[in-house]
Amino acid sequence: MRWIGTSFKMTKTIAESAAYAARLRDAIGPRLPAGVRPFVIPPATAIETVARTLGADSPVLVGAQNAHWADGGAWTGEISMPQAADAGARIVELGHSERRAHFAETDATVRLKVAAALRHGLIPLVCVGEDAGTFAAGGSADHVVAQARAALDGLADTGSVLLAYEPVWAIGDAGRPAEPAEIAAPVAALRDAVGDRVAGVLYGGSVAPDNAAALLGVPGVDGLFVGRAAWRVSGLLALLDIAGER
Ligand code: PGA
Repeated sequence: MRWIGTSFKMTKTIAESAAYAARLRDAIGPRLPAGVRPFVIPPATAIETVARTLGADSPVLVGAQNAHWADGGAWTGEISMPQAADAGARIVELGHSERRAHFAETDATVRLKVAAALRHGLIPLVCVGEDAGTFAAGGSADHVVAQARAALDGLADTGSVLLAYEPVWAIGDAGRPAEPAEIAAPVAALRDAVGDRVAGVLYGGSVAPDNAAALLGVPGVDGLFVGRAAWRVSGLLALLDIAGER
C-alpha cells in the first residue's frame, strides 16, 4: 500500500475545504490507481464537512492535525480523539515538527496521544524528523529512531501506526527539498528499529510532483505526506498518479 496524503495546516475555510473535497471526490473514482491510499487532513473546523463531502464509502481517509490524549474534560482549546472521530476523522496526525517547535509537543505527549488514538480506533500518523544541526552532525538516523521508539514505547497493538519521516530542514517555504540519498539511511534505520511494529513509513518535506517518484523509490518508503504541493486538488491527483505508476 502506498499512502499519499496532505495536511492543509492552517489554510482553507470550510467552503474552500468543501470545494477541495468535492473536486477530489469527483476526480478520484475513475482514476485512483490500485494500491494507493489517499488521505486529507483539513483544519479541525472542516473535518466534518470534508468527511461528509467525500462520503462514507470514499477511498480517501480524512484526518485531524492533532488531538488530545484525554477523552474529554477541562482542556480549553483542545479536541479529543473521540471528538475527532465523531467529526469523521480516521487518521490523526501527531508530533508534527511545527507542533513540537511551537506548541510544546514532546515525545511524551506524542506517546500519550498515540495511545489515545489507538484506544479510539484512529490511525496515528506520527511525524519524526531531525533539525538542520542534527542532520549536519550526522545524527539523523539516531534522532528519528529515538523519536519513533518514544512514540511507541510500551504500547501494544501499534500495527496501524504510520510513521512520517519529515526532516525539519526540508519542510515548508524555508525548507530545502531532500535528495533521495539523504533520506535513505534514516528511513532504513526506522524500518530496522520499528518497522515490524507499524503499518508503514512515509516521507514528507517539500514533496512535489517533480521529486515524488524518486522519493517513493527510496527503499522502505511506503508513501508521501505532503503540504503545499497538494493544497490544490490537481497537485494531490498528480501525486496519486505518480504513486500508481510505481
Ligand atoms: P511541505 O510540508 O510539503 O509544504 O514542505 C510538509 C509537512 O509539513 O508535512
